[in-house]
Amino acid sequence: MKNLIAARAAQIEASGIRKIFDLAATLKDPINLSIGQPDFDVPEPVKDAAIAAIRAGFNRYTPSGGIPELREKVLARFQRDHGVRLDDGFIASGVSGALTLALLALVNPGDEVLLPDPFFVSYTHLTTICGGVPVYYDTYPDFRVDPEAVEKLVTPRTKAILAMSPGNPTGACMDESSKQALADLARRKGLALITDEIYELFTYGPHGKSLATYYPEGSLVLGGLSKTAAMTGWRVGWTLGPKHLIDAMLKLQQFTFVCAPSFAQKAALVAFDADLSAAVPVYRAKRDRMLAGLRVAGYEAPEPGGAFYLFVKAPKRYANGTAFVEEAVRRELLLVPGGVFSRRDTHFRISYAAPDEKLERALEIFKAMA
Ligand SMILES: Cc1ncc(COP(=O)(O)O)c(C=O)c1O
Repeated sequence: MKNLIAARAAQIEASGIRKIFDLAATLKDPINLSIGQPDFDVPEPVKDAAIAAIRAGFNRYTPSGGIPELREKVLARFQRDHGVRLDDGFIASGVSGALTLALLALVNPGDEVLLPDPFFVSYTHLTTICGGVPVYYDTYPDFRVDPEAVEKLVTPRTKAILAMSPGNPTGACMDESSKQALADLARRKGLALITDEIYELFTYGPHGKSLATYYPEGSLVLGGLSKTAAMTGWRVGWTLGPKHLIDAMLKLQQFTFVCAPSFAQKAALVAFDADLSAAVPVYRAKRDRMLAGLRVAGYEAPEPGGAFYLFVKAPKRYANGTAFVEEAVRRELLLVPGGVFSRRDTHFRISYAAPDEKLERALEIFKAMA
């Protein structure tokens, strides 16, 4: 049979993370620091709410934008935390769903989207799936965003700037002055600003403002419960922003995702009212322990302000990040090569959302490999 696969699918290589998962499956008791999700489970009251919703028959389609009380909760919480009421918002199938719809709504074939490098893996692929052209703003070596450097990349084809804080894979948080300058740039150039704030809870320094507060009329905030309530499999996220953009995205949601899972939206109401902050000092301590251990062993890594990742430069004696990770996997330590998240393959990502005993064993291996 002739090849029927469309170029948009054919051009995508299988996720580099998937390859590590396949390798992991062959190991008996690996130290797995490759996973981008918390190591705690969904809080019990949130599980109870999901089960109760299913038992009560709340299993049908919800309105496409989500149940009204959850939509309102998301808008109200943003206002409480950031002092700005955004126009509108809706419940999406995770941040991945919201991001897909945002790019589908904004990007025409050939439009350029400014993405950070390192980036979250989906950013590149979703941009190209939508016919867009990823243009990267480099944030090495300390993973700070330099708005002046971003400005130099703007062309008449630029449609949007994507930013994240805290970020994946670096954990880097934007400071308030770069947020202000990036938002001013987007406003001056008439660009959409998409701000991925999925790791918002996991912030170890002062909680800054959302990027969107500096440019509410042109920003789309993406948030969700995958990381904060460990609900990665339940697919609840949201987007907030100007009404015309939200309306365009909602039209697309009707014919694609239809709605976020019904029971999970009910559970999300409970997750919103729960205090999820207990994990934050625990993860901060893990960050500090890992960073100190790595530095003593001679690794170069800037201190990340959030999320649960460290993005570390591979020592010179390894050809690149992939070579380092291959050796680590041989020693039963699973990591992700930096090339999965970047045009460069110089680093590796550690997810420290893991038990302390595993982190200690990992540090021994890092020391041996330095
Ligand atoms: C920066 C970033 N954005 C979005 C996502 C996807 O989140 P969701 O599970 O809500 O689709 C992830 C997941 O790893 C992420 O790291």
